[in-house]
This record gives sequence, structure tokens and C-alpha cells, in this order.
Amino acid sequence: SSPATDQPAGGDAAGAAETATEKRHIRIFDTTLRDGEQSPGASMNLSEKLEVAHHLADLGVDIIEAGFPIASPGDFESVRQIAESIDKSTICGLARCSEKDILRAADAIAPAQQGRIHVFLATSAIHREFKLRMTPDEIVRRAVEGVKLARSRCEDIEFSPEDACRTEHDFLCRVVEAAIDAGATTINVPDTVGYITPEEVFKIFQMLRNRVPNIDKAVLSTHCHDDLGMAVANSLAAVAAGAGQIECTINGIGERAGNAALEEVVMAMKTRSDFYQTTTRIDSKRLVPVSRLVSKVTGINVQRNKAIVGRNAFAHESGIHQDGMLKERSTYEIMSPEEVGFVKTDLVLGKHSGRAALADRAKTLGFHLEGEELQRVFEQFKVLADKKKEIYDGDIMALVQQEISGK
Ligand code: KIV
Ligand code: ZN
Repeated sequence: SSPATDQPAGGDAAGAAETATEKRHIRIFDTTLRDGEQSPGASMNLSEKLEVAHHLADLGVDIIEAGFPIASPGDFESVRQIAESIDKSTICGLARCSEKDILRAADAIAPAQQGRIHVFLATSAIHREFKLRMTPDEIVRRAVEGVKLARSRCEDIEFSPEDACRTEHDFLCRVVEAAIDAGATTINVPDTVGYITPEEVFKIFQMLRNRVPNIDKAVLSTHCHDDLGMAVANSLAAVAAGAGQIECTINGIGERAGNAALEEVVMAMKTRSDFYQTTTRIDSKRLVPVSRLVSKVTGINVQRNKAIVGRNAFAHESGIHQDGMLKERSTYEIMSPEEVGFVKTDLVLGKHSGRAALADRAKTLGFHLEGEELQRVFEQFKVLADKKKEIYDGDIMALVQQEISGK
């Protein structure tokens, strides 16, 4: 099908599918191996990149941005080997808008069953003046030449006006229209410096869809950085305004504060599909294993309270919450831990926990506690909980055994 068929038909604000049964497919473009690797200290070697790429393909990622082939011989080789060995996902190589970069990227992705070249050129006034020292006309000319050259080597071309979200709207429309005319099949709208707000992103995507006459010939894509902590919210706002592709990384790693986290955008769309009316190809049960793998190979730890994949994401400590959970999980859980690849919900026992959680844990350890016996163990448990951050199964067993032996 043509890329344009992934766009919603109407220009409606919500961007929802036309009927409740027809959910819009959102392409997941993972850039863990390119933008993610640009996290300070996150570099990966060839075999680590291949391992991550295979996991991303199994996860159901539509497009894997495997690297920036001109950056180093190692980057070229990893993009080439990933292109050679993966056929379930499109393999993409990044290129600046120059002949050398584009030809290098084209060579690297050449073995792919489905390859893509991603060409980028900055468009904002700040970048034009201080970084590129180019006039608006020169930018348009360069973008058109770059996209045409890339298109002569590959059918699937993505063009990114870098710093798009700080670019004057008239100029952004002009560049996007010219890039599509030159053969771009995806137009990515990066918030390169993580500056934009969800309301503004929504308006930019709406504006592009309303003002660029050939916009339906390309898939619109969002690429948000997290400098103000809004990358995920911004990506979802773009989807609501009609974006058909989200660029993201596992664990949200990436340049500076990182990129939109894949696991968060995917689970937001899945858990709130009633609102977004979208689907993805992602097998959500693989999210936690992939997160652990990326953390291991990059050496970047996942914070305990990180949404979806953090150790505490499904852990309940307070007695009120634990009691609710034991009665009916949906009281305090909006998705199940099994759905994202955790083994089970963690009822963490600590000083905020109640009798119900203690009795439940004792039961799984083989002890039936009730009445006064439960009360006595519970009192001892609270004394211990004041001294320790977490109570382990071994502690519970010791408390119960103490009670049984009457000490
Ligand atoms: O953030 C950015 O602008 C980028 C581009 C290369 C798409 O990563
Ligand atoms: Zn980026």
C-alpha cells in the first residue's frame, strides 16, 4: 500500500479512525541503535548491536534505525550486517544531506529486504544562520537534491527538517512540500531540542496537514526529545493530530535527556486505545526483556520508578493499595505486569503494608495465618519494617516460625 494510506482520512482534530472498529496503524520507528547510542557513554559494539536489532525485530518494530553509516567504519559495518540478517523490519541508515553521506548510507542498507535512507537537514533560523550558514533558498535546493539522490538508490526515503519545531511555519511547509515532490515517502518532524509542548505539536501537525498540498503522499512522523520531560506526551499529541509514525528508543535513551520511550508510547496507545483508536505491531510481552537487554549492553540503568519497565512500575507497598489489589487488581492497576513481560505483580512488604498482604505472602510461603496469630505476626512485622526498607520472604518465614514455636 502507499505510505499515505496510513494517514487518517479526515482532518479532524482527534485524528481518530473513522469507525470504532477501524483502528489506525502507527508505525514504530526505533532509533535505540542510532539516537539512543548518542547517549553519553552508551556506545555498543557490533555483536551487541546485532543482538539488540534481533530483539527489536522480534518485538515487532516496523523500522529499525540501525546507525549513521558515515560516522565510522564500525557504524557502517553494523548497519550493513543488520541489513543482511533481518528481514522482518525495515532497516534504516541515517545521512546528512550530502552526497557522501547518502551514498554511504545507501551502500550500508543495500543488502536489506526492506531498506530506508533517512536524510536530514536543519531548517530553523538558528541552525541556518549559525550552524549551516545557508539561506532558505539554499536549504530547499539542498534538501531537494539530497532526497532525489537518495531516491535514486532506494524507494523508501525519510526526510527530516532538523529542528522542525522551531522552524518558521511558512518555511517548514515550503521545505516539506519540496521534499515530498522530490520523492520523500516519510516526513519526520523532529523536536530536536525538546522545546515544544503537546498543544504546540498538535498544532504543527494539524498545520502541515492543512497547508501542505501533497502531504497525503507521505507518512508524517514524530521524533521528540525529552529535555523538558514531554517527549512521550508530545509524540502522543502528534499521533492525535494525524502522525502515522513515532520515533522512539528503548528506555527513552538518547541524546542529552533522551528520546520518547518506546515502551511508554506503545503502552499508552494500547492501554488507552479507546482514546487514541490506534494499533501497533509491538508484542508488548517482550518490552521488559528488551529493556533489560538494552540496559545491560549500554550500562545505563533503568530508574526504579520508570513507567512500564522500572522495578517499581507494578510494585504496591501501601496497605490500602495491597488490600485493594488482593480483592481486585483493577483497583490500582491499569495494565497487567504480565502484559509487558513481568512475571507477576510485586506486593512489596514494608512499613506501609497491611495484614491482608502479610497473610497473602505467608500463604504463598505455605503458612495459613488468621485471627490472633496473624495479629501477633503482624505486630512483629511492623517492628521489623521500621528497621528495614523492604521485608523479604526469609524475614516473613522467620517471623512465622517464631510465632509457631511460641517464642
Ligand atoms: O533530533 C533530531 O533532530 C534527529 C534527527 C537526525 C532526526 O535525531
Ligand atoms: Zn534526535
